Amino acid sequence: MTQPVTLSTAGSIAVIEINNPPVNALSQAVRQGLLDAVVQADADAAVTAIVILGAGRSFPAGADIKEFGQPMQDPHLPDVIDRIESCSKPVVAALHGTALGGGFEIALGSHYRIAVPSARVGLPEIHLGLIPGAGGTQRLPRLCGAAMALDIMFKGTPIRAQDALAAGLIDRLAEGDLRQAALIYAAELQTPRRTREATSGLADKAAFEAALTDAKETARSRMRGQMAPLKIVECLRACITQPFADGRLFERDCFFECLASEQSKGMIHAFFAQRASAKVPEASRAEPRPLNRLGVVGGGTMGAGITVAALNSGLPVTMIERDHDSLARGRANVEQVYDRLIAKGRMSEAQKSDIMARYQGSTQFADLSEVDMVIEAVFERLDVKRAVFEQLDKVLKPDAVLASNTSYIDIDEISSATNRREHVLGLHFFSPANIMKLLEIVVPQSAADDVVATGFALAKILGKIPVRAGNSPGFIGNRILGKYGDCAAHMMEDGATPYEIDSAIVEFGYPMGLHAMYDLAGLDIGWDNRKAAQGKRNPAERYVEIADRICERGWFGQKTGRGFYLYPDGARIGAPDPEIFILIEAERAKKSITARRFTDEEIMARYLAAMVNEACEVLREGVALKPSDIDVTFVHGYGFPRYRGGPMNYADSYGLARMLDDIRRYGQHDPIFWQASPLLIELVASGQTFNDLNKG
Ligand code: 3HC
Ligand code: NAI
Repeated sequence: MTQPVTLSTAGSIAVIEINNPPVNALSQAVRQGLLDAVVQADADAAVTAIVILGAGRSFPAGADIKEFGQPMQDPHLPDVIDRIESCSKPVVAALHGTALGGGFEIALGSHYRIAVPSARVGLPEIHLGLIPGAGGTQRLPRLCGAAMALDIMFKGTPIRAQDALAAGLIDRLAEGDLRQAALIYAAELQTPRRTREATSGLADKAAFEAALTDAKETARSRMRGQMAPLKIVECLRACITQPFADGRLFERDCFFECLASEQSKGMIHAFFAQRASAKVPEASRAEPRPLNRLGVVGGGTMGAGITVAALNSGLPVTMIERDHDSLARGRANVEQVYDRLIAKGRMSEAQKSDIMARYQGSTQFADLSEVDMVIEAVFERLDVKRAVFEQLDKVLKPDAVLASNTSYIDIDEISSATNRREHVLGLHFFSPANIMKLLEIVVPQSAADDVVATGFALAKILGKIPVRAGNSPGFIGNRILGKYGDCAAHMMEDGATPYEIDSAIVEFGYPMGLHAMYDLAGLDIGWDNRKAAQGKRNPAERYVEIADRICERGWFGQKTGRGFYLYPDGARIGAPDPEIFILIEAERAKKSITARRFTDEEIMARYLAAMVNEACEVLREGVALKPSDIDVTFVHGYGFPRYRGGPMNYADSYGLARMLDDIRRYGQHDPIFWQASPLLIELVASGQTFNDLNKG
């Protein structure tokens, strides 16, 4: 077995190399190896300086997240880093790839830092519900002050080596070979320089305090309900008020407090769930097809958003529209995205021109003859989509992949318009498609493995988070949304106001409530769907007409200035509408319903039980392959709070037996809606959790 850490020498310089693929995570063996190598090099009289670097693709990208949740084993990372810092000889960290979390903390504990220009450094612990726990909150502010340190820790986004250099977080950029450059640098150095003794970042006490006050406010407003941001602020206060050693100990206590929290467990679950969702059977059996040029049919909301996502990632796009006017609108929809960035000073005209050079528009399907994949985003009507696919069948090259962005339509009904059904799949983007990360990859029975693999390859190119979904109405997300949306409608008719329901949802951790979300998406979409389903519904099922009454008045949400909420003068945040109360009361009166009160707790218990129960059916039917795929769908597509891990992870912590009891209790009044899923019953009977299913 290869050693995770090796010590060698180049002349009088000791070189410590960390080799723990894929990202050199700081497992126990790495920490031990690093400590041993540092002690040995420090004691070796022939060594004048030490270089620490990572083998393979990166300097360590952090602590080994897989070890979290297990008893921590010696040596602890903060102690290893303290030992590095107390070395009697200069220590140089040589950075490439992503030096993150504990990896960046090793660099901060080293005396000097050199990086290749493509390297990125950061403290992303907040995305795991954690704080930097190996000195990061104490060393980083000593170098760059509180404002920048807080920005790095709150955003958790890695910064470029160039920016780190400008901020004094690294000392030198390495041109050419990193190891050579680090050796040359180390040879120049005479004495250690310890970050714990640095004072530049602490000098302006007033600025430091002001940054802390701002950060506390941000933590309370924009990161509401999360523990880690407030702990980071507390650690920075310790940094400015206490000696380094005390601040370091305080940080360690806070780190363990966060690590023990449900929030951190939820976020760590979300981290691994996201990586697991990209691993699908088809992609393990087949290689993706080449993807060098994309076609997009339709330049409306979705077509334009998909085009922007593709152009941004470097793919040339040919957009097809019905006629010249529509094409001009389609192009304008694309350009508008860039013009807004230019107006905000976040893009230059030259950058826009570079991007738009990859764009081509046409009204002729024949212009798609060279593309490797086409994504159709025309009106949500089967006849229109079939006509488009018939045309595509005639002009596309034989191995091109055909995809539909339909929200609900059966992909088989679309693909049967072609003579190449095995090349067809669904790619369900979320609006705005250039921003939203989720991509449901809808796999009909007939799709060839390499077609599915190409869908996943596209997701990677576009920086999307893919989830494999079966070809069932609404796929994973919209199907489950339909169910808990109905549950919310029932509660509304029974006595809860839409505003109370939204408030409970926001209190739970969502960025916005369901009705605010409906207003944002446009109430007409759901209304069209309901009208199309008329006559097909089971008359015994409960049907709430409140949303129909709202739509009949032409109130379609934000775009019409009114929906569940009022949006006076183009306001983006809605205000409660007194007329909605009257309208709801009238609907209750029609059904002789006497309104009752709902607590926030009951609202959420019902809402989530409806969500999880339908999710069980989605799993049972194989529409989702594993519970964690449903978690990924709801965290990245529907605003489910990431720190709760997703609905299935939440259900595990709520208790499946308790949830089943809730469902049975609700079912006493509405047995058709509240039919417990056989999968949930089976899991409770066998004492299993969704997480057990994730493990297979
Ligand atoms: N620990 C364990 N495994 C890790 C890991 C980590 N810190 N970081 C990545 N991995 C694993 C992934 O799970 C994945 O495994 P798989 O192939 O079995 O699915 C593999 O490494 C590759 O990861 P990605 O698919 O994410 O590869 P990318 O190239 O897209 O991204 C990355 C690489 C930017 C390093 C990204 O993986 C990442 O952001 N990792 C997490 C970094 C992080 O959060 N670090 C802080 C950890 S907490 C900490 O350090 C606490 C300290 O302060 C005490
Ligand atoms: P839209 O109405 O904004 O755009 C549709 C575009 O298709 C129009 O520009 C129209 O001119 C064009 N078009 C119609 N027939 C065409 C044809 N035969 N050839 C070329 N172009 C044609 O609609 P939107 O919202 O972009 O939706 C498109 C698809 O995406 C639908 O299937 C919808 O269900 C789906 N979708 C929509 C989401 C949303 O939030 N709007 C989210 C996810 C999917």
